[in-house]
Amino acid sequence: MSNLEEKFQLFEEKNKAAEIGGGEERIKKHHAAGKKTARERIHILLDEGTFVEIDRLVKHHNHDFNMFENRPAGDGFVTGYGKIDGRLVYVFAQDFTVFGGSLSRSNADKIIKIQDLAMKMGAPVIGLNDSGGARIQEGVRSLAGYADIFHRNVMASGVIPQISAMMGPSAGGAVYSPALTDFIFMVKNTSYMFVTGPEVIKSVTHEDVTKEELGGAVTHNSKSGVAHFMSDNDEQVLMMIRELFSFIPSNNMEDPPEIPTTDPIDREDEKLQELVPVDPNKPYDIKEIINSVADNNYFYEVMPHYAQNIVIGFIRLGGRSVGIVANQPAMLAGVLDINASVKAARFVRFCDAFNIPIVTFEDVPGFLPGTVQEYGGIIKHGAKLLYAFSEATVPKITLITRKAYGGAYCVMSSKHIGADVNFAYPTAEIAVMGPEGAVNILFKNKIEKEEDKQVYVDDYKKNFANPYRAATFGYIDEIILPKDTRKKLIQALEMTQNKSLSNPAKKHGNIPL
Ligand code: HXC
Repeated sequence: MSNLEEKFQLFEEKNKAAEIGGGEERIKKHHAAGKKTARERIHILLDEGTFVEIDRLVKHHNHDFNMFENRPAGDGFVTGYGKIDGRLVYVFAQDFTVFGGSLSRSNADKIIKIQDLAMKMGAPVIGLNDSGGARIQEGVRSLAGYADIFHRNVMASGVIPQISAMMGPSAGGAVYSPALTDFIFMVKNTSYMFVTGPEVIKSVTHEDVTKEELGGAVTHNSKSGVAHFMSDNDEQVLMMIRELFSFIPSNNMEDPPEIPTTDPIDREDEKLQELVPVDPNKPYDIKEIINSVADNNYFYEVMPHYAQNIVIGFIRLGGRSVGIVANQPAMLAGVLDINASVKAARFVRFCDAFNIPIVTFEDVPGFLPGTVQEYGGIIKHGAKLLYAFSEATVPKITLITRKAYGGAYCVMSSKHIGADVNFAYPTAEIAVMGPEGAVNILFKNKIEKEEDKQVYVDDYKKNFANPYRAATFGYIDEIILPKDTRKKLIQALEMTQNKSLSNPAKKHGNIPL
């Protein structure tokens, strides 16, 4: 073999060795658990043949615990860049077959390298997480690696989209980087997120809890609100991430991608005419309006299992990406509580950071009363939503479908906090409170029998429980027929397309956290 051939052979061998991660046996076990390897995941996620790996030959440099004898190339993390629908993205994937996907100083540096590249090039970072957290054998070097990553996560927040998929156990430091990113996806039955696992909990608090109950996909999607999406398996989660990218730009200086549509922009929907019941106490599903107006009736819902009294997600209107925030009368009458406020506020801030116009559908009886909410801090949590809507400078369009009572009227992207276009259906009721409550307070000394009360209620409804008062003050720009909703929203979006507005210069505001 010539010298040159030897060099090429060495090149082949080194590259091949990096591909087998923790070895055939561990890969078999990994597959048997229903999981794909780090490389397989990246290939499913990205456009065919676009992945370019960086730092394939990086190794750890730890001598403690005899670790230097076991130094697989790549050190268990696969990092690099590629494309989704032709657009550049950076990606890292942790390989659980190598030291449980734990974070060494070396592979922290690999992540940091792509985070820095992504910031310079203005492209998103996607992390495919499957990790036991800080590599115990490396001690503080591993912790330092995490902190360096967290710092970059924060610096990148609002500049480039950061997406985390949880595709295996993720403990300790492995959950805090995802928590700083914009969206967290989880895979059912194979992914877990917790700061401390069941065994530590048992020894400290004597609580018995399974991994699944503590930090499984269902828990974080429906109870804690830590995660935004849930999938059945690895392939599905990767497809869901690809789809999310069709709605969002690559960085905060770009507009979201436009996808031309054949769905007529003036398409009417007669079904909407009778969707909102005249009886304000009857529920209906706000998603029927959202689906009806969206291009091809397609709604990409975010956090569908958490705080279902508010609905958030993306649609396209006339090809343009739009963020939706909508009270859901079919769940707790669409009331605003702590969880709904926080869910919507964070979403509004994401849309605002990434130039995505916000359409708000409003049907809300107010903030949820009660000690649980008050002690839980509904005042400061509700204020987050008020803050987020007020601060947002993207086009804001609001449609009141039925109830807009009290503080909730102000909060839900009202004219007064900066909405550009405010619509209402003829069924809208805009008032300080609902008729029954108002009459009970205003006329409590005059009501002697039930019939008297009804007279006052009817009178109140006629005068206040309608959109016309607000329209006479210009707080509502136009009262529209439900069947025209799509056309009216698209017209408003077109009108606001070149909106240019900046908030006063400051270091940063002080959102009530
Ligand atoms: C080094 C690790 C490791 C770690 C797992 N392994 N976690 N090696 N550092 N943090 C290794 C195991 O020793 C094992 O090696 C292999 O990975 C697979 O792990 P198993 O335990 O066999 O797998 P499983 O039963 O599926 O359990 C997975 C797990 C569990 C739930 C992740 O391993 C675990 O609890 N790990 C520790 C989690 C943790 O507490 N991490 C530190 C958090 S502190 P072998 O060779 O035996 O196959 C932290 C600080 C940062 O992260 C804080 C920042 C805010």
